Amino acid sequence: MEQNMNQYEVDHLATVRAGAPESMVLLKADGSFPLAAPGRIALYGAGARRTIKGGTGSGDVNSRHVVTLEEGLENAGFTITTKPWLDAYDGVAEENHKTFVADLKAQAKAAGQPAIYFGMGAVEPAPAFDLPLDGDGEAAVYVVARDSGEGNDRHPDAGDVKLTDSEVRDITALAAKFEKFLLVLNVGGVVDLSPVKDVKNILLLSQLGAAIGDAFADVLLGKSYPSGKLSTTWAAWEDYSTEGDFGDPDDTHYREGVYVGYRYFDSVGTAPIFPFGFGLGYTTFTIGAPVVSAVGSEITVKTTVTNTGTRPGKEVVQVYVSVPAGDLDQPYQALAAFAKTGELAAGAAEEVAATFDLTDVASFDAAKSATVLEAGNYVVRVGASSRNTVPAAVVELPETAIVRQLHNALGDPGFTDFKPAAPVAVEVPADLPRLTVAAADLRREDIHAPVDLTDALDFVKDLSDDDLSYIVLGDYSDDAEKQSIIGQASQALVGAAGQTTTRFEGLPSLIMPDGPAGLRLSPQVGVDADGPFALGEALGGLFAELMDDESTAALGGAAAAPRTPERTYEQYATAIPIGTAIAQSWNPELAAAYGDLVGAEMDHFGAHLWLAPAFNLHRTILCGRNFEYMSEDPLLAGRMAAGITRGVQAHPGRAVTVKHFAFNNQETNRLNSNSHVSQRAARDLYLRSFEIVVREAQPHALMTSYNLINGVHTSESADLLETILREEWGFEGLVMTDWVVDSMARTDLKNPRATASATIKAGNELFMPGCEADRQDILAALRGEGTAAVTLTRAELEKQAARVVRMAHLLGDVAPAPEV
Ligand code: BGC
Repeated sequence: MEQNMNQYEVDHLATVRAGAPESMVLLKADGSFPLAAPGRIALYGAGARRTIKGGTGSGDVNSRHVVTLEEGLENAGFTITTKPWLDAYDGVAEENHKTFVADLKAQAKAAGQPAIYFGMGAVEPAPAFDLPLDGDGEAAVYVVARDSGEGNDRHPDAGDVKLTDSEVRDITALAAKFEKFLLVLNVGGVVDLSPVKDVKNILLLSQLGAAIGDAFADVLLGKSYPSGKLSTTWAAWEDYSTEGDFGDPDDTHYREGVYVGYRYFDSVGTAPIFPFGFGLGYTTFTIGAPVVSAVGSEITVKTTVTNTGTRPGKEVVQVYVSVPAGDLDQPYQALAAFAKTGELAAGAAEEVAATFDLTDVASFDAAKSATVLEAGNYVVRVGASSRNTVPAAVVELPETAIVRQLHNALGDPGFTDFKPAAPVAVEVPADLPRLTVAAADLRREDIHAPVDLTDALDFVKDLSDDDLSYIVLGDYSDDAEKQSIIGQASQALVGAAGQTTTRFEGLPSLIMPDGPAGLRLSPQVGVDADGPFALGEALGGLFAELMDDESTAALGGAAAAPRTPERTYEQYATAIPIGTAIAQSWNPELAAAYGDLVGAEMDHFGAHLWLAPAFNLHRTILCGRNFEYMSEDPLLAGRMAAGITRGVQAHPGRAVTVKHFAFNNQETNRLNSNSHVSQRAARDLYLRSFEIVVREAQPHALMTSYNLINGVHTSESADLLETILREEWGFEGLVMTDWVVDSMARTDLKNPRATASATIKAGNELFMPGCEADRQDILAALRGEGTAAVTLTRAELEKQAARVVRMAHLLGDVAPAPEV
């Protein structure tokens, strides 16, 4: 394998292998691991040979090869004694898959939907089986695997969120039989570990991209060590909040308000199995007495972390703030800052500083249309997980301060948010150091002026209406053979999800491959007289299996005529860890290194806008795309996504597209579902992570989500795009839609799909992927015809087109398009 690789692949695999252990979370440890040397090992479980590098859907990256756990262990010199079990399990898994596909097709038929859309991202439940556990060795490893993807959500059932009886039986038996037994979780989201929580060694391996097997072997042998911390609360399924609802195709009510994840568990006093922020290592640490100081509104916590064990490791110092309740109720605590140490050898110590601005913990008060810090005692807490924090100082605010005077935006959800009836009280020890911050230091006046579009407006003013309408749509062709599951894909960079118009001489077309676990491209490309095209199955795996007649018709009808390449070339990209795994590193610099890796591959392939990072919050553990996303906490998600953004955008002409803005927290009927969210929860949680990235890292592009917010599609919400994103936060980049493809949208449900005309009117200047019907909708709106949802003025259309033109030059003039 190695000899076919390009140098960039070799280098990037090494980067991923070295970084991956930072994402692994050691949940339980009794000192049995690491192993001193490779020897005989009993390896079991679905993820042993069928290791999952990342979930399914648009984020699935085509690497040349994925090192499975079985391979990784063999590469490292282990002898696997359970080959017969792994072979037999292959048979079980293949049968299970056949039944799963047949069931999906039958269900799609019954529901009257094309199987390809019905089954997209559906979770294949882990099978039941009974195979002899007769492997021997110095140690045993059991690898639970779970997969999910866009288009469908997870279920709280056995084989998905819950373990199957077969898994529990085998894990329990192996834990009893082997002195050294490790339960490994090759999963993208939470699994309810209640039945196996007494197992003494549990590693959340997560899904770590192409080098996963080698990285695992490194950790098993102590050549490296896990230093990840949970980015989401792991609890028994029954203990998660049931206040809000989930999964209704029409309306989802975020009634739980701000009580999401640890904010809920800590406030109601329910102990999760493994809390947010938790993770062990091969060594132990102490966090010394913190010293807290304030300069203006900036609070700094300094402490010394000491490695008190016998092996190297890294620790994460976490700073939380308990905000006093006043007119607004407040969760018990919220993460305000964190800092990860460098590698600390046994006995070594490092002084770390974690800084935050007190205004960062302000809450949105809908009655005042402002973010506020209410009068009272703000308790600064320091620890190594959300359940292990100690008060370190109190910041006293004698009076309530308005931080930012904002707008009343986004409408009304039609209910009042949940508040815990008897919230856990915050103790304020009398002897804590007390700090004060002057009210004047808390005021922020930063409403932003619009970006200067003069040059771009000059270019568009002489164009015809027809021309203008092409600029605000993705580049499309009416050729049915060029249709794909995502409507129209890029013609220039094969496998990229789209590009901006190619119709104008001198106006660069921006090319957009998907992410977030690397660049999604077609790995094998052929070229004929009509240009480049994907070789082999354009759609792999489950997609290919679900392509029935209805699905072919839904995609535009024609099956592509075979093409004969005159020459071929390869486009292998590096699969990096999934979003949740990157967040588990709690290391924004590592995130930036992954961004840099992707930026280098964008340089190599000639891509401009990567459709990543994705960081909708883990509102519930059931969202089918949580693996792509980062965390239940907006600060952690925002800071990690900002790291990725910095890494990519350090490459001139290359940029990110942060997505999916916003409230896209379920996949069920994702194109038409209406998220009902209070302004407070919207601002304090779901928008906050995007705000952090915009303010910290100025991403050059943003993708709106499919769903509605309080009855308005996010792409059609001027409140969201013009008022909040641009005016309040100062976003200067390009706004595009998620891929609105007619055949993907349900027409039998309550809410319609977003329209091109209303989207353009609201300030989302690029309707993707675009098709002739969308263009006619825009032209009809311009002519004031009743068929369009809105009317558009020429000036409005010119402004949106100018925004696209500006970004096309900003990136495209610097970065060359791919050479074919
Ligand atoms: C996904 C996006 C993706 C786009 C283009 C959509 O279905 O929701 O995340 O970027 O397709 O592939």
